[in-house]
Amino acid sequence: MIYQIYPRSFADADGDGIGDLPGITSRIGYLKDLGVDAVWVSPFYVSPQADAGYDVADYRDVDPVFGTLQDADAFIQAAHGAGIKVLVDLVPNHTSDEHEWFKAALAAAPGSPERDRYMFRDGRGENGEQPPTQWRSVFGGGAWERVLEADGSPGQWYLHLFDVKQPDLNWENPVVREEFHDILRFWLDRGVDGFRVDVAHGLVKAEGLPEWDHEQGMLHGKDKDERPPMWDQDGVHEIYQGWRKLLDAYDGDRMMVAEAWVEDADRLALYLRPDEFHQAFNFNYLEAPWRAEDQRAVIEASLASADEVDAPTTWVLSNHDVIRHATRLALPVGVRRPNGIGADHPQPDAELGVRRARAATLLMLALPGSAYLFQGEELGLPEHTTLPDGVRQDPTFLRTGGEHLGRDGCRIPLPWLSQGGSLGFGPFDLTWLPQPDSYAALAADAQLGVPGSTLEMYRAALRLRRQHDLGTGHVEWVEAPSPDALVLRVGGVLVLTNFGNDPVPLPAGALVLLCSRELVASGGDESRPSVPVDTTVWMNA
Ligand code: NOJ
Repeated sequence: MIYQIYPRSFADADGDGIGDLPGITSRIGYLKDLGVDAVWVSPFYVSPQADAGYDVADYRDVDPVFGTLQDADAFIQAAHGAGIKVLVDLVPNHTSDEHEWFKAALAAAPGSPERDRYMFRDGRGENGEQPPTQWRSVFGGGAWERVLEADGSPGQWYLHLFDVKQPDLNWENPVVREEFHDILRFWLDRGVDGFRVDVAHGLVKAEGLPEWDHEQGMLHGKDKDERPPMWDQDGVHEIYQGWRKLLDAYDGDRMMVAEAWVEDADRLALYLRPDEFHQAFNFNYLEAPWRAEDQRAVIEASLASADEVDAPTTWVLSNHDVIRHATRLALPVGVRRPNGIGADHPQPDAELGVRRARAATLLMLALPGSAYLFQGEELGLPEHTTLPDGVRQDPTFLRTGGEHLGRDGCRIPLPWLSQGGSLGFGPFDLTWLPQPDSYAALAADAQLGVPGSTLEMYRAALRLRRQHDLGTGHVEWVEAPSPDALVLRVGGVLVLTNFGNDPVPLPAGALVLLCSRELVASGGDESRPSVPVDTTVWMNA
């Protein structure tokens, strides 16, 4: 079970309104008690924070906003002391435009080795005034930016698949490859247990940069049948084979997990070959509609494709890029997830959302493989769906002129205490994004030790998951009492999820271990309760 920490929003020790490494270290006890095996920490490197740290200016140092390298060492040590492994986030597709390499590239001439570390090209048109291709940025607008040459004249263009402040690196250049080997070693030598690799499907672009004039989904490269020239090119695999060799040469159990938005299961499996990544995020699971048949299909497909390459399946419902599942699952079923929700949008039903989120989580935590949790989901936190536009910071919001609201709503500072200006996030009232009113009642201190709270449900589930070794078990499907329910057995635990509109009977003789919502009495027969709608129950098999 890997818990994602988004450092800006986890815990703020120095009181500047932004979370930091000492804040994380101070909460290691909470993570240990929750029952996490490992944490993945989103980037805390030196960065102008144009994309919340996914724009790295120095891969070998910590941004003052988050602390110092010594703070990083102290955090790694404290986590290890508590038996928690540490994965750091590696961002190899692009650097910040404030990285020394990019500054040098701007100062150097076209065709220079400095420029060759990035994707510089001449423009089209008589004076090079047209971008080299029509490629779009994932965050909206075009993916090319024109620079001024040293003499002040308009010059070449550089590629940025994300923000204009995130120039793409040229992975055909051996210097770039060597540099990242060195960065991997830098963090492995400091004791980290592995890496979450950002945009792992993006590093290599198709030769000649063929034209691709299509909208990019927020994190989906695919909107027609052909493979886009910037995503999932065969050349990426050689890079990861090199990294795997490097990791394997280290002592201990070092791993890497790919963020690869590759929808085709067979293509994703290539990243998981024995000489590449250990794991990849299962975004098909995250995107699956809240319907029995869809959930069963995605679980079966995930298990089958992982089996093929002998890698553990992974499961994920929330992260810092998508609407929190306590809100997302209340959106109309089967409709494509929007990129952000605002005050002008229909407001999702909060009660329905958290009910389904709890049911979804209990189903997920019973499944074999690795589960990735996003900070705050254990509190049942909803998305902030009424953020004022003026506080939004996601570059997507600006680059799309507000058409896509972006990801700020899932990145709100955590509520640790039900009282106080920042709800215990920091020592003062400051938070870099405002917390919604609903967060006070959901604060960790309001849930700890409270039977039936979402936090206690997570803690119990993780305890049972460990006790029953569910993570390494096998799924066996069992006949369900209704087409709208799923029943499966993993080891000694029988799991039932009711997706339908009516309660279903609890299997005869079942001894309940844990449920996401209180069971209800079924028509007169007190001894055999029913499982209400949007509920998962774990039983002794
Ligand atoms: C994926 C990260 O998860 C996201 O937050 C970031 O904006 C992009 N990659 C670009 O690095």
